[in-house]
Amino acid sequence: LYRKAAAKELPTLLLLGPSGAGKSALLTLFANGIASATHTSQEPQSAVCQLPASTTTSEDRYRSENDTSSRAQPKFLLLDTPGHGKLRHHATSTLTSAAALKGLLFMVDSAAVSSASGLTEAAEYLHDVLLLLQRRHTQGKTSKGPQAVPVLVLANKQDVFTSLPSTIVKTKLEEEIGKLRQTRSKGLLDSGIGMDDDASGDEEGNWLGEYGAKEFRFAQMQEHDIEIDVMGGNVKGDGDEAGKVDEWWSWIGEGL
Ligand code: GTP
Repeated sequence: LYRKAAAKELPTLLLLGPSGAGKSALLTLFANGIASATHTSQEPQSAVCQLPASTTTSEDRYRSENDTSSRAQPKFLLLDTPGHGKLRHHATSTLTSAAALKGLLFMVDSAAVSSASGLTEAAEYLHDVLLLLQRRHTQGKTSKGPQAVPVLVLANKQDVFTSLPSTIVKTKLEEEIGKLRQTRSKGLLDSGIGMDDDASGDEEGNWLGEYGAKEFRFAQMQEHDIEIDVMGGNVKGDGDEAGKVDEWWSWIGEGL
């Protein structure tokens, strides 16, 4: 009980993304400093992680250069959720309930998104997650709104020969989400939902980003206070090499 209470006070980062992206591998690397062997997750798992000494945090900016007192690096709770389609309710319920939610880490396999099916799977999941955040923001406007939650898309497995660079992962996801948004709204129209005045508001509520825009860009989410960055890296190294996760640590450090 005590441990639960202690963990509750820590800022929480939610880790999500399609199955096999490398989420559990990242959790073990962040928590233990080494990426252990993993298996397909059935249950959410969490670990308390601490920023490495080399990573600067937002607080460091306000520290005097002459200040040599040592300060403990901040800790946070990393919550890893299963990527399998049938188990995603774990992620979505945390999204809507976690009070200390500081950010979202959406991980994709940068090699898998080069295939049509891999791209669709990642884009659909990301679309749904962003739509939840958007709704959270829209509904929060009336009451005391929930804090804005920034999103980092981790373009993982950059060590793999067939992986796409993070800039391409970004544009591919944007394109695919744009298509998805179009088909979904068309589906609603065809089924008659959204035809009458009452439901037309709903149609807008189901539309991600700038309403009616032809193309989708992550930047459109800023209107809903949602900042999205895409950064490449790899949890596992090539052969004996260690993983490359520095950019991700920096992003986390900025937000803590
Ligand atoms: P679910 O538990 O099903 O949601 O999947 P997951 O996202 O947790 O994936 P997991 O961490 O189990 O990793 C899937 C596989 O990818 C494992 O075999 C990992 O060793 C491998 N993997 C993870 N990160 C990397 C990476 O950066 N490079 C390479 N080459 N392999 C990786």
